[in-house]
Amino acid sequence: MSRFDTIVRGGMVATSAAVVRCDIGIREGRIAALADSLEGADRVIDAEGRTVTPGGVDSHCHIDQPSRNGSVCADDFLTGTRSALAGGTTTVIPFALQFKGQSLREAVNEYRGRADNRAMTDYAIHMIVVDPNEHVLGQEMPGLIRDGYTSFKIYMTYDGLMLNDREILDVLALARRERAFVMVHAENGDCISWLTDRLEQSGKIAPKYHAHSRPRPVEREGTHRAITLAELLDVPILLVHVSARDVVDEIHRARARGLKLFAETCPQYLFLTEDDLDKPGFEGAKCVCSPPPRDKANQQVIWDGLRNGTFDVFSSDHAPTRFEGLGGKKMHGENASFRWIPNGVPGLETRMPLLFSEGVGKNVIGLEKFVELTATTPAKLYGLYPQKGTIAVGCDADIVIWDDSREVTISNDLLHHNVDYTPYEGMSITGWPAITLSRGEVVWADGEIRAEPGRGEFLPCGFPESAVPLGRPVAQI
Ligand code: URP
Ligand code: ZN
Ligand code: ZN
Repeated sequence: MSRFDTIVRGGMVATSAAVVRCDIGIREGRIAALADSLEGADRVIDAEGRTVTPGGVDSHCHIDQPSRNGSVCADDFLTGTRSALAGGTTTVIPFALQFKGQSLREAVNEYRGRADNRAMTDYAIHMIVVDPNEHVLGQEMPGLIRDGYTSFKIYMTYDGLMLNDREILDVLALARRERAFVMVHAENGDCISWLTDRLEQSGKIAPKYHAHSRPRPVEREGTHRAITLAELLDVPILLVHVSARDVVDEIHRARARGLKLFAETCPQYLFLTEDDLDKPGFEGAKCVCSPPPRDKANQQVIWDGLRNGTFDVFSSDHAPTRFEGLGGKKMHGENASFRWIPNGVPGLETRMPLLFSEGVGKNVIGLEKFVELTATTPAKLYGLYPQKGTIAVGCDADIVIWDDSREVTISNDLLHHNVDYTPYEGMSITGWPAITLSRGEVVWADGEIRAEPGRGEFLPCGFPESAVPLGRPVAQI
């Protein structure tokens, strides 16, 4: 009998701490040995001269998320996770959305059912809390948190999703008590709706005005308020999809006060600008997302933030609405106001290759930082580490072997999602996952998906250290 099921031989193996040339021995889906040289396996995968990283953990992506405004989430768990694997991501954490008046437990159970028999990657689930009533806060959330749903997102904008400050305080207090981790979409919803009305009144309805309806101060104010409310109750939070200098400044100020605060950014804030919303015809709608892409100077600030530790995680915020067809970006016609364009851009598959090429390949960040941002820290923040997010003995054998020198012109035809466009069409990058392993199984190789639908397992999240309060005196409650 062989000592190992698989040996990955001779790669430059990267963790968030170091890059070392070694062999990886895999047994029963887990990493069983790391050494200069290993022998005795049923299968040897040659990784000589190639970069080897942990499988990515995409801790912010929308998959098969129901909607009440007629927009359609084009990726279900099959197409979404298929596309994740092809891009080197082996764990996803999408969102179970509660509707107003709906039981949160029911929303989570229903959402779990969507993954059954479909998911190809392992997956955990965040909750989106929209209706924090007494029953939800007092009964449902404590139970769900103990069942492994230890993180949730709240919104400060979007009709039907946004919470007022009082509700935000309610959920923060709950998070503190139950040790759950809170993600905040920080934009001032009232400012956005006021600005949207004004823009429309003066006939400014083209996709580019989406950016005008949510300028940087709108995100800065939301951020400042979220931080203030969290500070009041001594609750760590994570700010999702940060786009701009103003927000980075708020983050630095809060951290300088000693607050426990985490931040995420996404590819769209590195590779798109508001000019992309002003493409001819309705093309700009493809890049409508919130917060909107900013300008080149802000892109640079986001790059700097990836390098200097401002950002803890790099997620896709994959929000798969098709351009054409029912429930897509054009669902209200090409002459409709930007107000009606479904928000979000697809990016599960391109997240890792884009940062690998433009970050690591161009020496903006090191490989260790790449691993930290795309795998290790997301796994840690959401209670999945060390099972996920690193390459070490005992961890799940979720591994990406890169074709470091492959030149790729990104085209939607190459991608495996169910969206009919990519905002990165035509962009040339270097490097793409050659082989992806999930729990030791080759799930992507030779340009083919090799995974069976339904092989992905649900991951109950542990109680993450990220959610532990500082222990500072809080407002008297
Ligand atoms: O525009 C975006 N980001 N859409 C997805 C939903 C969200 O706010 O994350
Ligand atoms: Zn959001
Ligand atoms: Zn999102």
